[in-house]
Order: sequence, then structure tokens, then C-alpha cells
Amino acid sequence: MIDSDVSIDIKDLTRYYKGNHIPALDQVSLQVRKGDIFGLLGPNGAGKTTMIRILCGLLSPTNGEVTIEGYSLKNEKAFIRKIIGVVPQDIALYSSLTARENLSVYGGICGLKGRFLKERIKELLPVFGLEKSADRHVEHFSGGMKRRLNLIAGLLHMPRILFLDEPTVGIDVHSRNVILENLREINRNGTTMVYTSHYLEEAENLCSYITIIDEGRIITRGTLAEIMERSGSCTSLVDVFLSLTGKTLRD
Ligand SMILES: Nc1ncnc2c1ncn2[C@@H]1O[C@H](COP(=O)(O)OP(=O)(O)OP(=O)(O)O)[C@@H](O)[C@H]1O
Ligand SMILES: [Mg+2]
Repeated sequence: MIDSDVSIDIKDLTRYYKGNHIPALDQVSLQVRKGDIFGLLGPNGAGKTTMIRILCGLLSPTNGEVTIEGYSLKNEKAFIRKIIGVVPQDIALYSSLTARENLSVYGGICGLKGRFLKERIKELLPVFGLEKSADRHVEHFSGGMKRRLNLIAGLLHMPRILFLDEPTVGIDVHSRNVILENLREINRNGTTMVYTSHYLEEAENLCSYITIIDEGRIITRGTLAEIMERSGSCTSLVDVFLSLTGKTLRD
């Protein structure tokens, strides 16, 4: 990959958590290409959320280097925060506020204000089917509505790069469909995405590049076609996943 094609460059990334002598990430090196939907897959505890939290600047690595769009994560975190969006695995919303109020708070954190923020909220609520619920308190929302609102919160400032940690977990087919269709559209408009999920069929359909990690290390990577070509008799990504990670439970 030539440098101008690279969105995220990760070199030898290692992270130990306090009290654990086994690293959650173990010298991981990878590159995310601009415009890709990069699927970061792996069993429970593989290190996916650790990786996303580091890339967003929420967690420091023990070792290793990350550059995003050519900027060093270590030295230029404030700038990087402006060009990335994060949709965390654990829904982060204020239940006593309405959908619109939640988005105002998140927009404010990203430095948006006034009319622009208002318009942006007004534009995104209907895209994710929440216009009628805009002024309802989030505590009365279904799981799918919360996921969709969580997603809007990460999109308000039009990030060039979007980190999505299990954005479709635990929701019905309709919510899933709305989320995936919109993610595709946002990607077509130029946003690079790093996406984690346990729904491997979803990843097969959505991702232009896939990396599977296990116990903090990369175990395979490539386009779906490349991974399947190397996989011998496997007929799906689920087969490949089980053959590479084994069938034992992880937690
Ligand atoms: N705050 C923490 N303190 C100690 N250990 C942690 C902490 N967070 C994660 N770990 C450990 O680090 C490893 C990687 O966890 P991580 O949450 O990154 O995995 P994951 O791939 O996101 O898993 P899941 O699919 O369950 O979300 C696991 O062994 C986990 O127990
Ligand atoms: Mg996780």
C-alpha cells in the first residue's frame, strides 16, 4: 500500500492490563486503507475493544505506534479526535435526557454548536428512524433505538474515520438493516470504517477487508476472497473462524 492510501498505520501495538501477564494486544501491526470498511473480528476477549479504545485515544498502548491520516496518535491526539468518530460497544447515553438533548451534549463535546448542530441533529434523526422520538426520554427507548441513537452521536461531526464496536449487537432485523444500509452509504461518501462484530455473515457482506485476531494476535487477514482462497475446505467465514480459533469457549 502506498502511504497516501493509508488511513491508519499500526506498528507493534502491545497493551498489557494491570495485573494480567498476558497482553490483550501482542505486537499487532496492520494498516487500514482509506475508504475501506475494515472488519476487526475475533472471539470474546480477542482484543478488539482494546484496539478500538487505543485507536480512539481513550487508552494508551504499553508499546507500539499509531498514525492516523499521517498524524501521530501520541503527539497529535487533539487533532485526531476531531477527525474520528466512535460508536462504543457499551451504549453511552444519558437515560434521563431526550434523544435530541443527548445529541446536543455529544455535539458539544465534539465542538459543534448553534445552528449547525441543531441542523445536523435534525438531518440525522430521520435517517435512523428517530424523528418521532426526538423529544422522548431515552430511558423509554428500545434497544434498537438506543443503538441507532448511539450511532448518530458518533456521526454528528462528520468524521473522516469511524470506529464501530459491535454497532448491531442485540437488535432486531429492522434496526440492523437501517444501520447497515446507512453505514454503507456513509462509507460510499468517503468515510473509512473500522468495524467489529460477532455477526460474521454481516461482516462478510459489509467489510472490504477483514482481519481476525485471537488472544491479541492477528491470525488471518485479507479480502473475504483472499481469506476463503487460503482456507482449504472452508465454505464460509464462520468455518474459517472456527478452524483458526478452535471451538473452545473464551470466557
Ligand atoms: N479494564 C480491563 N482490565 C483488565 N483486563 C481487561 C480490561 N479490559 C479488557 N481486559 C482483558 O483484555 C482482553 C481483551 O479484551 P477486549 O475487551 O479488548 O476483547 P474483545 O475482543 O473486545 O472481546 P468481546 O468480543 O467480548 O467484546 C481480555 O482478556 C479481557 O479480559
Ligand atoms: Mg469488545
